[in-house]
Amino acid sequence: MFYRTLIIPLIGLSSVLLVKAIAARRRRNPRRLPLPPGPKGLPLLGNLLDLPQIVPWEGYDKLCKEYGDMIYLKALGQGILVLGSRRRVVDLLDNRAVNYSDRVVLPMIKMMDFDWTFVSMPYGMRWRQHRRAFHQYLNNNAVPKYHPIMNEETKLFLQKIRSNPDQLFTDLQFLFGTTIMRTAYGFDDIRQNESLIHNAEKLVLELAKALVPGRFLVNYLPILRYVPSWFPGAGFKKHFKELAQLNVKTRCPPFQEAKRDVEDGRKGNHPSISFSLIDRLPEAGDPNRADLEAIASGVCAVAYMAGAETTVSSAMALVYILASYLEVQTKAQAEIDKVIGSDRLPLVSDRQDLPYVHAIVKEVGRWYSVVPLGVAHANTEDDEYDGYFIPKGTLIFQNNWAITHDPNIFDRPFEFIPERYLKDGKIDPSAPDPEIAAFGHGRRICPGRHFSNDALFLMAASLLATYNITAPKDDEGNVVPLKLEQRNPSIR
Ligand code: HEM
Repeated sequence: MFYRTLIIPLIGLSSVLLVKAIAARRRRNPRRLPLPPGPKGLPLLGNLLDLPQIVPWEGYDKLCKEYGDMIYLKALGQGILVLGSRRRVVDLLDNRAVNYSDRVVLPMIKMMDFDWTFVSMPYGMRWRQHRRAFHQYLNNNAVPKYHPIMNEETKLFLQKIRSNPDQLFTDLQFLFGTTIMRTAYGFDDIRQNESLIHNAEKLVLELAKALVPGRFLVNYLPILRYVPSWFPGAGFKKHFKELAQLNVKTRCPPFQEAKRDVEDGRKGNHPSISFSLIDRLPEAGDPNRADLEAIASGVCAVAYMAGAETTVSSAMALVYILASYLEVQTKAQAEIDKVIGSDRLPLVSDRQDLPYVHAIVKEVGRWYSVVPLGVAHANTEDDEYDGYFIPKGTLIFQNNWAITHDPNIFDRPFEFIPERYLKDGKIDPSAPDPEIAAFGHGRRICPGRHFSNDALFLMAASLLATYNITAPKDDEGNVVPLKLEQRNPSIR
């Protein structure tokens, strides 16, 4: 309905933009290289109405099968490049990372007040400052500091599901939400964490919905930001405003409280990112203080906003797999019985002695794409690649789902086969790893992956050590086949 109401003014505006764009492109592309292949769009609207909205990663994969493993689309003047194979992703996002690590700050990011997160920051000094601070506390060597928090929360989770097994999915959400919240802020107050976790979940799901290419017109015609809220079809303004308010409510108070804790000498039981960052801030009155404080606050908040929902989605897929593939579960439990026994729970440090459980966690990351189209990169400069012209500022999606389901990389990709990572009873370092795509690419690769891998492994091994996971039964005792609730909001 929104499309229909605004279609005529949009066409007028788009014509002006189009004429300007053509003139500029002539200057920027002197060799007149073609754009990468893709479906022919409508005049002015381009491919806006072609952008797949339902299971878009499969839609883009189909287009790639038709036009080639890299397709170019245009929506109201905004170029969109979809990289559909590992080769294209490596060539551009890894090998030309200096040019391909930017983000287009879409209008709705600002409208939802999400421009504080370095996930959406343009490539540059400010992004680098945030990323460096984040990396310092969540790199591969730093993450073990948080294992005690993971252990405590995982134990609590196991107790909770004993008393109420029907709440498994809610408890999973709480497990990762609380683990990350405690890591970021050091809070132990469960009720406080609960409301923040729910808020963060809502924000992240709404953000992911809004990022699906073509879903919100304002992303392609920024001028729509200024349409009055009462204008028919402008309901998105109210929606984004409410989310912006929720964003402030979720992001600011925890950091302020962590600051008060540090000022009052209260130190949590375990190391937390906020404690270290706040402790190192220069004295009040220092000209750099405000800036460094904003970075510290952003780094803590992004950990739970970017980390909780993603890890929970993977964990849910893992539980679904264990209940659906009983032979996988039995094999994993036999391994745990043999290596750990029944006197204690597994630890992250047991991972190399539990290669089958490790392989299950890897295979979940491949089989179930949490971020199937990645987070769009952008190129800062015009580029020529493989005989094509790629204009600067192109939104570049990576079809991570297609890569982790490419039969040339992963044999029988739609089957769940942990054995594909094993050789002689150990993880085979030469086997292709889902991390070639699951966590993104190049300089923007997910910096929370070490944390997520450890927390997921611990949850999987502990759950397997303690329980049998089965699909629910109906009143007549028949197994009800599980449906993996696709949490990725790109499905309507
Ligand atoms: C299963 C779990 C996870 C998955 C599948 C995942 C996936 C991703 C993907 C695909 C990206 C985009 C990378 C790119 O632009 O190429 C990303 C970025 C990011 N992730 Fe994760 N992630 C997970 C867990 C986490 C956790 C636990 C944290 C924090 C503790 C986290 C923090 C971030 C941040 C801060 C970025 C932005 C990086 C940047 O733009 O420089 N993620 N993640």
